[in-house]
Amino acid sequence: MGIDAAAQKQLAARAALAFVKEGMTLGIGTGSTVDAFIEVLAEAPRAARHVASSERSAARLAERGFDCVGLNDTDGLDLYVDGADEYTERFTLLKGGGGAHVREKVLAAAARSFVVIADASKKVDVLGAFPVAVEVLPLARSAVARKLAALGARPDLRTGFTTDEGNLILDCAGFAITDAAELERDICALPGVVDCGICALRPADVILAAGPDGEVIKLVR
Ligand code: 5RP
Repeated sequence: MGIDAAAQKQLAARAALAFVKEGMTLGIGTGSTVDAFIEVLAEAPRAARHVASSERSAARLAERGFDCVGLNDTDGLDLYVDGADEYTERFTLLKGGGGAHVREKVLAAAARSFVVIADASKKVDVLGAFPVAVEVLPLARSAVARKLAALGARPDLRTGFTTDEGNLILDCAGFAITDAAELERDICALPGVVDCGICALRPADVILAAGPDGEVIKLVR
């Protein structure tokens, strides 16, 4: 039977500590796996500066004594650690289950190293079993939904949810993701789209995936 997903997340989170060095500028993602990472980080703070990808993570960091700075107050991130809803062995990801992917992708793009922490259930051969989260400007919601349907998706408004940027999320099931980078470009080119949860143009550099047997597999690009 092995250990459950929560325990796997904790193992992956602890494994990421090895990448955190003294004096670094560290970006922190969002989600339950990152919550576990924040817990282990608090045991032995090392980084000099922390940049949070969401109000949620900033609040959790503040509760543990970490004052976050804005990305504009840095010259980029040495390391960005985040979870994922899906990952492939080609280092492409689906993110946005927590609706924070816009800021997450900004931080990943600004990072010299992007480490993903996950439980083994997140591994897929082809992205897309999990819906693609598309953040849209509120005024563009319907127009973008029609364009996404024309691209093959079934867009579904995430109800009762507003992003940290004040926008809406359309969760899009049904995409055939044969070329993740091309679809990422196509979705992001639609006027009114802020960003989508496909991370193929800036893939992960390292994936730390913990399995039910307690082993943490390290994939390096
Ligand atoms: C938030 C994300 C998260 O990284 C993703 O949803 C994974 O979450 P969890 O660690 O809770 O499984 O993309 O926008």
